[in-house]
Amino acid sequence: MARTEEQHKRPGLSAGTAAGARITASVYTSHVPAIGAALDLGKSNEPYWQPLFAGYEPSKAWLKENTPDVIFLVYNDHATAFSLEMIPTFAIGCAESFQPADEGWGPRPVPVVQGHPELAWHIAQSTILDEFDMTIVNKMDVDHGLTVPMSLLFGQPDAWPCKVIPLAVNVVQYPPPTGNRCYQLGKAIRKAVESFDQPLKVQIWGTGGMSHQLQGPRAGLINKEFDKDFLDRLIADPAGLSLMPHIDYVREAGSEGIELVMWLIARGAMGDQAGDKPPRVVHRFYHVPASNTAVGHLILENN
Ligand code: DHB
Ligand code: FE
Repeated sequence: MARTEEQHKRPGLSAGTAAGARITASVYTSHVPAIGAALDLGKSNEPYWQPLFAGYEPSKAWLKENTPDVIFLVYNDHATAFSLEMIPTFAIGCAESFQPADEGWGPRPVPVVQGHPELAWHIAQSTILDEFDMTIVNKMDVDHGLTVPMSLLFGQPDAWPCKVIPLAVNVVQYPPPTGNRCYQLGKAIRKAVESFDQPLKVQIWGTGGMSHQLQGPRAGLINKEFDKDFLDRLIADPAGLSLMPHIDYVREAGSEGIELVMWLIARGAMGDQAGDKPPRVVHRFYHVPASNTAVGHLILENN
């Protein structure tokens, strides 16, 4: 029997309505744990840290004016909630809340992260029916990969100003997902969000990077040229950038530079990748060093 057009269509959920949820912006940032420690220990005004925190001030002001209802926060767990015993490639947090993790010095003194189970389950359903094999997680402590970006963008409030759906991506144990897989997942997440029938403003954040290597003879590696080029291409040509192979990340940006593939999930979810106008660059910032790491940050707003 001949296959019809209908049979070729993927069985995902149908497109959204005008009154549904939408992705308003994407935020990209490094998540160096020393930044969290500097904040928690009251050192953010010290000369070493001041230029770094100053670079996030415009973004904090913008976020005050543009606080979303929900952040879909793409990050990686650093063998904290998971370990070599269990290594999900894409793990979506569907819980009511997520505790700050104890990474060896006690949990960071930051608010508990409130989830959005209804939207998280919807995104899990939509992306799985779109043939992305997500792992559903109903209990997960969140480490510096998630809490440091929250602190950088929201400071030190008593409660986070919005809900957060964590997506933990394996970039710790080879093989991580390809850049293209991440970029395509971003597109599927956009479709999922826009088929949710509540009028929620959703931001998608991509975290980790930029160039850094924490171990071995190349420990301390930083590659400013690669990082700046990555930011340029992320803005202007994410589809092209998504084809960059793992070896180029590792060679150019260090073994932990592979965290940058997560930024492609956020970028793939932006409107222009589904045919809308290019996004507006709200803020771009680059700073070296924070601990052993290059820090990059970008906000793109959908038009
Ligand atoms: C460090 C750890 C990270 O997870 C990261 O993304 C950057 C730096 C660190 O231990 O310095
Ligand atoms: Fe990291």
